[in-house]
Amino acid sequence: MTPDGTAAPPSADGAAVRTLELTKHYGASVALSGLTMVVPRGEVFGFLGPNGSGKTTAVKLLLGLSRPTGGEAWVLGRPAGDRQTRSRVGYLPELFRYQGWLSAAEVLGLHCRLAGVARSEWPGQISGALSTVGLTGHADAKVETFSKGMQQRLGLGVALLGNPELVILDEPTSALDPVGRADTRTIIRHLRERGCAVFLNSHLLGEVEQICDRAAVVADGHVLAIGRLDELLGSGGVRLRLTGLTDVGRAALARRGTLAEHDGWFVVDGVDAGAVPELVADVVASGARVYAVEPVRQTLEERFLSLIEAEQARWQR
Ligand SMILES: Nc1ncnc2c1ncn2[C@@H]1O[C@H](COP(=O)(O)OP(=O)(O)O)[C@@H](O)[C@H]1O
Ligand SMILES: [Mg+2]
Repeated sequence: MTPDGTAAPPSADGAAVRTLELTKHYGASVALSGLTMVVPRGEVFGFLGPNGSGKTTAVKLLLGLSRPTGGEAWVLGRPAGDRQTRSRVGYLPELFRYQGWLSAAEVLGLHCRLAGVARSEWPGQISGALSTVGLTGHADAKVETFSKGMQQRLGLGVALLGNPELVILDEPTSALDPVGRADTRTIIRHLRERGCAVFLNSHLLGEVEQICDRAAVVADGHVLAIGRLDELLGSGGVRLRLTGLTDVGRAALARRGTLAEHDGWFVVDGVDAGAVPELVADVVASGARVYAVEPVRQTLEERFLSLIEAEQARWQR
């Protein structure tokens, strides 16, 4: 709603990102097909898919670096590529290379200028970015002396300049070691605390699983699933190791979820954590002896693979 109480037109709502049937073809090849999604403000959104699935294509369309074949996109309530919105969006490209003869502070200064940051704010912005990405001690070192991981941190620093409302990161940890990856997650969490939305392109399931509020799973230019991480993962279950299961005990398990047996475990899918004590009490009352009870949850990796297999099967039909 606008301040005078009238409904805002869909293009002008406050979402960080909104796309409608966004499509990009390169000649005969379809890089992105009918992407429709909304990323609210302040959310960490994962755009997850294998290499070649259309993630970078989507980001370039959002930034106005490339034009869609079809559909529409809005960023911070403005049409994608709008010049005034550019200064409110931070961007870490997938492949970038800064001029090796510049120092880290000079690279940041250059990007302050490009982002339209007021000259008086440059020193604060530069030292803030250096400190956030852990490069304070390297402010005056030339970029050509930086390791790949340090260059990636500098890239993150560039994306943070000018206090953006949305930061778009394209594979931000691909060059980083485990410590660098953990640091990146910390930076992303800080951004969320400041109310900044983060759009994270990644082929790394673990990364998305650890920091994203919601995610879209993409493959071959199609969105296979989109939602909160817990929705994408589906409901959990429980597995038990037990002996002496009678028909009555089996019925008690099957009443609470879908019962299966794997490797000596009885697995009951779709059980609420709150229902586990009764389930165990019933099965014990039926005469079974229970040795172990463990929660089971499909990992994002299993879910991801099953989504992609289902998609491949759909195409083969
Ligand atoms: N400039 C381009 N010209 C032709 N094909 C392209 C171009 N950019 C990307 N593609 C193709 O579009 C598909 C999606 O690529 P991309 O968006 O880079 O995927 P991702 O970032 O998920 O790895 C790929 O098949 C890729 O080869
Ligand atoms: Mg890419």
